[in-house]
Amino acid sequence: MKRLSVNIDHVATLRQARGENGPDPVTAALIAELAGAAGIVSHLREDRRHIQDNDVYLLRKLLKTKLDLEMAATEEIVNIALDVVPDLVTLVPERRQELTTEGGLDVASQLPHLKEVTNRFHSKNIAVSLFVAPVEKQIRAAKNVGADFVELHTGEYANAKGRDVETQLTRLKTAARYAHKLGLKINGGHGLDYRNLRPVAMIEEIEEFSIGHALISHAIFVGLERAVKEMLDILSEVSFEKEG
Ligand code: PXP
Repeated sequence: MKRLSVNIDHVATLRQARGENGPDPVTAALIAELAGAAGIVSHLREDRRHIQDNDVYLLRKLLKTKLDLEMAATEEIVNIALDVVPDLVTLVPERRQELTTEGGLDVASQLPHLKEVTNRFHSKNIAVSLFVAPVEKQIRAAKNVGADFVELHTGEYANAKGRDVETQLTRLKTAARYAHKLGLKINGGHGLDYRNLRPVAMIEEIEEFSIGHALISHAIFVGLERAVKEMLDILSEVSFEKEG
């Protein structure tokens, strides 16, 4: 069955809105794990708008599954990540004005820097994933950098309407197949929800999905445990259909 990693950033968004102690993203992470998540994702942004440094250290200490630290490849955050030693780092582009990560990383235009950062992580046995648009040029560049994974940006697929949905899905399928051929492992994420996950989950080569906003939003109404289980139900139905 495909794996689900739960991004708990938006629990911290709610906490930061009042500057109080709760809701606690680390507690959310532990509940998500108990509900069956294969891992937890959190993005330590340079502006610290949601997740704080202390959250990341606590996650590292308490998680039983896997910590995927999403981050920009800047010196400050790289040094924190090397100190925390997550299981995986996912390198993303970051702009201060954006509401969320808007596009994929332009790996091709910063090969030497990303190669150096990847080597530093590998020297501490931290796996490296690059968040990229589903295009060959960026995937090939990720391979050249020495990344272990690519996370395919599913945002354009998630925003597509009408016949463009199928076009975006085909782009993701082609990209996943290409990355697999190069020997990369493949995750997917951004904008995925209870309605649009199923078609991408049918793509053989994508092993894991990183889902945050839709899941945490649903949890406000049904509780986090149920929100995680409903997402896992979709992944398990897909694997059942494939086997059947
Ligand atoms: N993957 C990456 C690399 C992201 O930047 C984000 C957003 O933080 C996600 C997945 C999760 O996206 P969403 O919150 O839309 O599910």
